Amino acid sequence: MNFVRDIFLLYNVMLVCCVLLVSSKPATFQQDFKVTWSDSHLKLVEGGNAIQLTLDQNSGCGFASKYKYMYGRVSIRIKLVPGDSAGTVTAFYMNSDNAMHDELDFEFLGNRSGQPYTVQTNIFAQGKGEREQRVNLWFDPSLQYHTYTLLWNHHHIVFMVDEVPIRVYKNNEARGIPYPKSQPMGVYSTLWEADNWATRGGLEKIDWSKAPFLAYYRDFDIEGCPYPGPMSCASNPSNMWESANYKELNPTQARLYRWVRTNHLVYDYCTDKSRNPVPPPECLAGI
Ligand SMILES: *[C@@H]1O[C@H](CO)[C@@H](O)[C@H](O)[C@H]1NC(C)=O
Repeated sequence: MNFVRDIFLLYNVMLVCCVLLVSSKPATFQQDFKVTWSDSHLKLVEGGNAIQLTLDQNSGCGFASKYKYMYGRVSIRIKLVPGDSAGTVTAFYMNSDNAMHDELDFEFLGNRSGQPYTVQTNIFAQGKGEREQRVNLWFDPSLQYHTYTLLWNHHHIVFMVDEVPIRVYKNNEARGIPYPKSQPMGVYSTLWEADNWATRGGLEKIDWSKAPFLAYYRDFDIEGCPYPGPMSCASNPSNMWESANYKELNPTQARLYRWVRTNHLVYDYCTDKSRNPVPPPECLAGI
């Protein structure tokens, strides 16, 4: 495992978040992450500041955080597979990885050259998912790094692309709607082939003559309560991600969110009548 010995700069507070003073400090890949799938397909690049993930006919690959986190704000910059990426899926997600699991997914679905990348998001609460939404990105995400963020606190879960909210899932537990609230989640990334469903519902197949497919990740920022760790951390109201700024979308964010839903939403399980003749309760509780 050469990879885990290499230094990868991360900017996070995971080791200090449970003291009252919350501050950022660089950490190392070695300290905070581990390879979970195919060491040989992961490589440090950009002077050790970025990780290159490779998908070829032999394998995809993946890595995960060593700790799990209970609530927090996790972001990463990703440069996706360029050119003909149809049939590839690059993912960034959190998962409690147990029987009745909670999970928050960003899945980047590749496309034929020149066709828009689609971001699929999904939310599992206590083992139940099937809450897919899809938006087409308003830029080519393979040309430059862009920032993808998951905010998870007692009030809501927000998925953001370059600080633009693309999805909000409110905590409506009081109305009987499941919400992830008791299981710490790890942070995961993978690159794999899924040409049976990913692009135009599986119509567009992966073109192996274009392999290897490469995606790049850098600048992790994980601010959350690490687990194992003191459980009192998660309920501390002075955690940054629970502060007033993060309780609800501000007016600018709310406007951007409406812009995304009006102009870039291409699929929403809430309005898919063939799957959900009656919309699931969270869809009626307001977005
Ligand atoms: C790929 O491009 C097609 C054609 O523009 C579009 O309909 C589709 O939403 C895009 N994304 C995926 C993942 O198929």
